Amino acid sequence: MRKHIKGNVSFVGHLDWELERFHGDDFSILNGSSQNAYLIEEEKTVLIDTVWTPHRFDFVENLEKEIDLKKIDFIVCNHGECDHSGSLTALMEKIPETPIYLTATAVKSLEGQYGKRGWNFHTVKTGDSVEIGNGKKLIFVEMKMLHWPDSMATFMTGDNILFSNDAFGQHYAVEELFADLANPCLLHKEAMKYYANILNPFSAVLKKKLTELAGMNLPIEMIAPSHGAIWRENPMHIVDLYARWCDNYQEDQFTVLYDTMWEGTAKIAHRIAEEAHKLSPNTVVRVFNLSKADKNEVMTEVFKSRAIAVGSPTVCNSILSSVAGWLEFLKQLKFRDKKAAAFGCYGWSGESVRILKEKLADAGFQVVDENIRSLWNPDEACLAGAEDLVRALLGESENR
Ligand code: FEO
Repeated sequence: MRKHIKGNVSFVGHLDWELERFHGDDFSILNGSSQNAYLIEEEKTVLIDTVWTPHRFDFVENLEKEIDLKKIDFIVCNHGECDHSGSLTALMEKIPETPIYLTATAVKSLEGQYGKRGWNFHTVKTGDSVEIGNGKKLIFVEMKMLHWPDSMATFMTGDNILFSNDAFGQHYAVEELFADLANPCLLHKEAMKYYANILNPFSAVLKKKLTELAGMNLPIEMIAPSHGAIWRENPMHIVDLYARWCDNYQEDQFTVLYDTMWEGTAKIAHRIAEEAHKLSPNTVVRVFNLSKADKNEVMTEVFKSRAIAVGSPTVCNSILSSVAGWLEFLKQLKFRDKKAAAFGCYGWSGESVRILKEKLADAGFQVVDENIRSLWNPDEACLAGAEDLVRALLGESENR
């Protein structure tokens, strides 16, 4: 069923209360999600994006209940990833001649996924526009690498809605649709989790894009992303947050991350956390066992941190696989301007601390020399090293 959002524009997407994972298993969904598609009914009827492949038949059936599909003058495909283009195959069976407006790279994406089907593509670039009647038009803005090379946004004049696709979205299902009606804590958390886990690697590109968007002087009154809540009241709030997040964001937070075999490395982790709180009482201290915690929630905490400490015991001349896999993900996300230290127990060869330091440096962290490397279980003399390690990471606190 359509839901009115502004003027002659309706939401015709899919609220996905059941979704638990996204990008395969790489992103956890804890509060539902949505694939947002929008229907514009001016003199021209325009469909902005569709929904994920498994929902394609329901999507087309629901759309047919709302309008005669033959009335759709054209479709805008802001992004080729299948959570937004996945219903095109079913839809285009019914209206095969309908023009699809998209970037040239999105053509490659659609043909790569669905094959060459003879669809009526109209490629567009930043600044191109198309009239939709009643004095209104759609202006296209390429959003290359936000978050894929083909991404774009579409601005609707008159109602001044920016259909931003993945940018400014969240994996968060909101029945009421609007950000001002959503739980504000969850909304902020999910918007930040989305940024930290999906968009952070492209922060430098985003920074330039925000400047370019500002230079276009689009009078944005609403931001309608392709996932989660629509920004209706003060839509520039999320733009301002992105401007902060893309600039090597950090809060006064310190996060300890580890896995352990027989609790020795866990003991060091807990001592480091205690020491951090003692030395810097105003700093938020979080501790996660990487084999038990949700990796995407953990990454959001790393995003907020100014420093982290990572621990693993040595096993078979290396580190635990839970930590190794997590460090590979950490490297992908390209966090910058954060300090890191390593710690871990060993019984024989003891390579873990060296390996952790190398991997943290490779992930872009400023790795300090101080570390805790404990032969067998840590004794008090070993644990006392936590003070120097924390001091190297957090500096001298004014609150001591
Ligand atoms: Fe929501 Fe990049 O797809």
